[in-house]
Parts: sequence; C-alpha cells; structure tokens
Amino acid sequence: MKNLPYKALKGTKDILPPESFVWQNLEEKARRLFSHYGYQEIRTPIIEELKLFVRSVGETTDIVQKEMFSFKDRGGREICLRPEATASCVRAYLESNLSSEPIVKFYYFGPMFRAERPQKGRYRQFHQIGVEVLGANSYLVDAEVILLLVELVKEFSLEHFLLKINSLGCTEDKKKISEEYRKILLKRKERLCPLCQERCERNVLRVLDCKEKRCQEIIGDLPSTLEMLCENCRRHFQSLLDILSSLNIKYTVEPRIVRGLDYYTRTVFELTSELLGSQDALAAGGRYDNLIEDLGGPSLGAVGFALGMERVIIALEKSGKLNEFVEKPLEVFLITLGEEADKEGFLLMERLRKKDISVDMDYSGKSLKAKMRRADKLKIRFVIIIGEDELKKGRYILRDMQSGYQEMINKEDLEKLCKKIRGEQG
Ligand code: HAM
Repeated sequence: MKNLPYKALKGTKDILPPESFVWQNLEEKARRLFSHYGYQEIRTPIIEELKLFVRSVGETTDIVQKEMFSFKDRGGREICLRPEATASCVRAYLESNLSSEPIVKFYYFGPMFRAERPQKGRYRQFHQIGVEVLGANSYLVDAEVILLLVELVKEFSLEHFLLKINSLGCTEDKKKISEEYRKILLKRKERLCPLCQERCERNVLRVLDCKEKRCQEIIGDLPSTLEMLCENCRRHFQSLLDILSSLNIKYTVEPRIVRGLDYYTRTVFELTSELLGSQDALAAGGRYDNLIEDLGGPSLGAVGFALGMERVIIALEKSGKLNEFVEKPLEVFLITLGEEADKEGFLLMERLRKKDISVDMDYSGKSLKAKMRRADKLKIRFVIIIGEDELKKGRYILRDMQSGYQEMINKEDLEKLCKKIRGEQG
C-alpha cells in the first residue's frame, strides 16, 4: 500500500511469516549446537552507556565515529543502542563477578544497531548470533570457537564459505606492527585518501579497512602482520592452524585482516561467502585478550565470533535452500458451513489439538469452494468438512487433498479420525 503515514525506518525491516519461521528454525539449531558444546545463553540490554563502546570498540573506529545511535537520556547520561554485543558480554561478566570462574562460555541472539548507509546485506538494525568465551588463553579455545562457527554454518546448510584467518599478536606486537605500518604509509601519505592520512596519525591499523582503490594498492604492499609476531604469539597461531588442519577445517591465512574493531589481539578471522555480493562477511571474530582488563577486570583472555542473520538468510535464498527451513503446513484445515457447524468445528479443533494434531479454520463466511482453495494454497494435507447434512447425521467428511479420497467418519469416533490423519492403520 502506498502513501501510508507510517513506515519502518530506513535500514530496518519487519520479519514476517514465513521468514520468521526460518529465523526460529535457525535459532533452534544454533541453540542445540551451542548447548552441545557447553555454551549458555546470555541476554544483555539493548541500551548501554556510550562510553562502554568508545572504550572497547575504539574511539577512532568507523563504528564509534560515524555509526552509533546515541542520545542523552533525561538524566543527561550518554546512552547508545548497542552496535555489537562483545563489550556488553564482558561488562555483564565483570558486573556479575564471573571472572572468578575458570571459564565462561556465553552465546547470544539479538539486534545490533549501526547507522550505516543501508544496502543489500547492510542494515541499521541487524541481528547477530554470537558466542564469547571469557577467561581462557589456550589456542584450543580459539579452535573451539572457529569449529563452532563452521559447524553452525553447516547446520544452516551453507556450503560455499571461506575462512580467512590472521594474527595481530599481543599488545607489544600490535604496537610494533602499527609503528612499522605507520613508517611505511607516511612515506606514501600523499597517495592515501584524506581519511587514511588522518588514520596514519591516530590509528594506523584502520587504514587496512579502507575500501578506496588508491589506498588498497598501497595496503597490498604492506608486510604481513605475521612477520612481526613475537615467539609466543607465533606459536599460538601455528598451534591453532595445526589443530584446524587436524579438524579438517579449510582456511586461508590472510595476513592483512585486522578487523574493524580495536579490541582484537592475536587471532582474528572472517567467514565470507561468495553468495553475498559486496557485503560478503557472513561472520567474524577473534581474540581480545586486553578487553576484560580494559573494562576494569583482571587480566584474562577471551575469544568469540558473531554471525549476521540477515546475511545467512540472503545466502540461503541465493543457494535455493530457504525452503528447507520454512514451516511445515498445518495437518488439518477445518471447513464449516453455517453457524451451528462453526461452533461444532471450533470445539472439534480443540479436541484435535489436544491429540497433538495441528489444525485451523478461517472463521470467514466464505463458500466451500473458497475455503477449499485456501486449504490448497496453504498446502494442507487434510480437510474436515462439516456442513448442515453432516451436522444432522452426526459425522464429518475427511478429505485427503493429496489423493482426493474422502470418507465419512462418525463424530464420536475421534480416535479413528486421528489415526487417519496420522496415517496409522485401523
Ligand atoms: P563485526 O564484524 O562487526 O563483529 O560483525 C559480525 C557480523 O555481523 C558481520 O560479519 C556481519 O555478518 C554482521 N553485520 C555487521 N554489520 C552489519 C550490518 N550493518 N548489517 C547486517 N549485518 C551486519 C562484531 O560485531 C564482533 N562483536 C564479533 C566478535 C564477537 N568478536 C569477538 N566476539
């Protein structure tokens, strides 16, 4: 309908049936998988203090500089809609004193908000499924998180993806990498875009996220971050690659992935899909060994990932697999003709539902033909018809829409009716 006075905001959308059923189905698969690996759900607020993300995601990142939905509340506090959930998980972990536990494994679902320029696969409100493992330094935890992501996309029937992986090293290594990059980039400063010239001064690693062709050419010549890792970080990364190979997980080492958020240290990774077009990142994550301490906690390591649900849906659409996740139709559609039959049918529906048979009617006074057409459209296998004649004789018509076969069933014989619908003998 055109000219409606109210519309969804730019970059946001409604998720309606049958797509909403696909979401439920995917979420259910994710929940089952996560609990199998010992992860538990966390639900954090959608609004947080702005400074949480300034401190964690980073003051000079695109997210904080250009994409935050932030505002002052009535008390003058600076609030924002969360652009991601990693920082919220760490805040909640510290606030609930969970850092005394040996390891905490969270998973979450939910909306995130970034004021980006909307396009296919990029929204202002989008939804992530993510995991965060807090309080662990072992490379085996990096491996578990990556394994979980790969298993998750397999559960979602997505096949064509590419895992790109890199290491940024520890704080000292990151400093060394930044200094080296700054030295090289400053020599070519005038060839960089104005924003990257500024990034060279303020946060040089952000230059690597630049999509401008002239910057890309220069970025391509930068040395690999891996060449600048200390012995410990090198060993951590190699052990991770070895165990991924033992798990038969295919990856490519991409020595220039730095990720668009500042908190990462050591392992960073992205899962891309060629089905997605320009916004090709299906999921991304990495280790953030300083964040717990930066947000006021002890010095403990952590690692996680987040997957973009809208992009999963696009990839499923593109690969023709969306239908695999669409809701199964109802088992029975009830067609009643006349007021008395409506009442009889209404009560019958409840008796059938109690026997675990899914059934609905349309409550309209439309004709038998129109109602049959609707049952057909909804792809419902059985129709029960109750008209005046059936009411008088105390029986129902059960019609199998697939074969066209129909029979009369005595209204007292609910068991027989249920058996027929379930396809059981007798
Ligand atoms: P991210 O790379 O900013 O990482 O986002 C993760 C995923 O969210 C992306 O790969 C993409 O699928 C989806 N996504 C991001 N922005 C949008 C958007 N505007 N529209 C649609 N989808 C989008 C994080 O958020 C980190 N918190 C991941 C993480 C968890 N790292 C460690 N733990």
